[in-house]
Amino acid sequence: MSAPKVLLTHRWPPQVEAELSKNFDVTFNVSDQPLSESELREALQNFDAVCPTVTDKLTAELFLAPELRTRIIANYGVGYNHIDVKAATQKQIAVTNTPDVLTDATADLALTLILMLARRAGEGERLLRNGDWQGWCPTHNMGTMVSGKTLGLIGMGRIGRAVAHRASFGFGMKILYHNRRQLRPDDLAGLEATYHQNLSDMLPHCDFLSLHCPASPETHQIINQQTLALLPRHAFIINTARGDVIDETALVEALRSKTIAGAGLDVYAHEPKVPEALLSMENVVLLPHLGSATLETRTAMGMRVLDNLKAFFNGDRPADCVN
Ligand code: 8YV
Repeated sequence: MSAPKVLLTHRWPPQVEAELSKNFDVTFNVSDQPLSESELREALQNFDAVCPTVTDKLTAELFLAPELRTRIIANYGVGYNHIDVKAATQKQIAVTNTPDVLTDATADLALTLILMLARRAGEGERLLRNGDWQGWCPTHNMGTMVSGKTLGLIGMGRIGRAVAHRASFGFGMKILYHNRRQLRPDDLAGLEATYHQNLSDMLPHCDFLSLHCPASPETHQIINQQTLALLPRHAFIINTARGDVIDETALVEALRSKTIAGAGLDVYAHEPKVPEALLSMENVVLLPHLGSATLETRTAMGMRVLDNLKAFFNGDRPADCVN
């Protein structure tokens, strides 16, 4: 029997591409440019497995074609809101993701943003690179401490908990969280964290607010004009989850009118577009979706896809099947 035909919609770390090639008949997107809608449509007709990323919008419409060859969509990433899982399921196509392996990298990046905001690191670096640094002085570029401050988390899954551990044990921050359910002491593994079933009750107490919820109809623009208005004026917002959990227009307005102190963003509603108004704001840190961007993590994500594909084509249920 010939090896299953697998499409990677982007280049992956070399070690993973080599491992995949040993097991499957793999097609690589050598241009590394995001596939167009029609290329994605063709992919579902010509490959046994399609391995997309966040840049590939697999909408319900793409699954309508009568003859689909694809039996599994093995997503490279933990978030899969770019895939219409319901439509895939109706066509009996398995969908898998890559949880766990990117938890630490993403949590590290959330802390990077927290620290960069608190210490005005982007602003300081821009000043120096522009040749505008006049030398040390006691009142220059003063930021704020994170130690002892309160961090509110929306979403307390793997990544939310990893952020909470770093912030609590590393920086002595007080942790509050809003989540679909209250966690059991076992899930918290020694962490002290106060549960807020009601988001509105938590927001006024946050010095920092970090988002770690999946994108879903329930979390769509959970941060909006109303919720932003409940944050203290000195609060910073950090988003390493998905762009559409924040109403970007309302965020720009809150930053402009200084009803919050700043924002650290790694994700945007319409990537790679970033709201123009943010680009000139000093109190904003903007990163290009780097959450999982370490070689170790991106390799581990690929290996996890490989495991899911191997299980599937061996006739087993992949460990990370989401449907
Ligand atoms: C990935 C992410 O790099 O895994 C996720 O959900 O947001 C990123 O870290 C990206 O999604 C790859 O598809």
